Amino acid sequence: MRSVPKFFVTVLLFALACSLASASDPSPLQDFCVAINCSTSAVFVNGNFCKDPKIVIADDFFFSGFQIPRNTTNRVGSTVTRVNVDLLPGLNTLGISLARVDFAPYGVNPPHFHPRGTEITMVIEGTLYVGFVTSDNRFFTKVLNKGDVFVFPIGHIHFEFNVGKTNAVAFAGFSSQNPGVITIANAVFGSNPLINPDVLTKAFQVDKNVINYLEQQFK
Ligand SMILES: *[C@@H]1O[C@H](CO)[C@@H](O)[C@H](O)[C@H]1NC(C)=O
Ligand SMILES: *[C@@H]1O[C@H](CO)[C@@H](O)[C@H](O)[C@H]1NC(C)=O
Repeated sequence: MRSVPKFFVTVLLFALACSLASASDPSPLQDFCVAINCSTSAVFVNGNFCKDPKIVIADDFFFSGFQIPRNTTNRVGSTVTRVNVDLLPGLNTLGISLARVDFAPYGVNPPHFHPRGTEITMVIEGTLYVGFVTSDNRFFTKVLNKGDVFVFPIGHIHFEFNVGKTNAVAFAGFSSQNPGVITIANAVFGSNPLINPDVLTKAFQVDKNVINYLEQQFK
């Protein structure tokens, strides 16, 4: 009888190990699963249905146009162009995607995080001041020049700021076909509907006018 609890402990540890090991996009279980939209009422778990492999073509795995600089004339002076599963259906279930980020001089990709993916960024042009903050509020930061690479672990708040006098360009790889993005200021001050200002006034320890002002910026 003694061995019974032992057995359950073993099963529990095994289940725990499995759940820890699967903290990423799941294994594709086949060569590929090119995404196709065939139902609007289905449940999606960061994925799509698979196209019949017999009718898959090379273009399902192809995207063109990442050499083109993007327009950075906007409030923050940066533009993110994502090639995720919506633009490149062949990425479906493969747990990987790519983005191009263009920066005007002193442009910023404001503090944000990706709920479903780790990011690895490489600077192609210019100089970026980057960093991320951990769950115990430690700040890891670096100034990146052309050819430098930096990693932002999944779910951590991070940013990139162009500290050079010229444009900057970076490419970022993600450990998800659809890493998602939550930009802190937009989420907190520009949600729909708005968060009750009493919550934000208390949380940020500022006057209500400051919260109203911030909410105006993210309308
Ligand atoms: C860039 O975007 C701005 C704002 O939308 C627009 O006024 C401008 O004409 C665009 N520039 C180019 C080169 O497309
Ligand atoms: C599927 O439909 C959504 C919503 O209409 C669209 O954004 C997406 O690009 C489509 N994906 C594919 C692979 O066709």
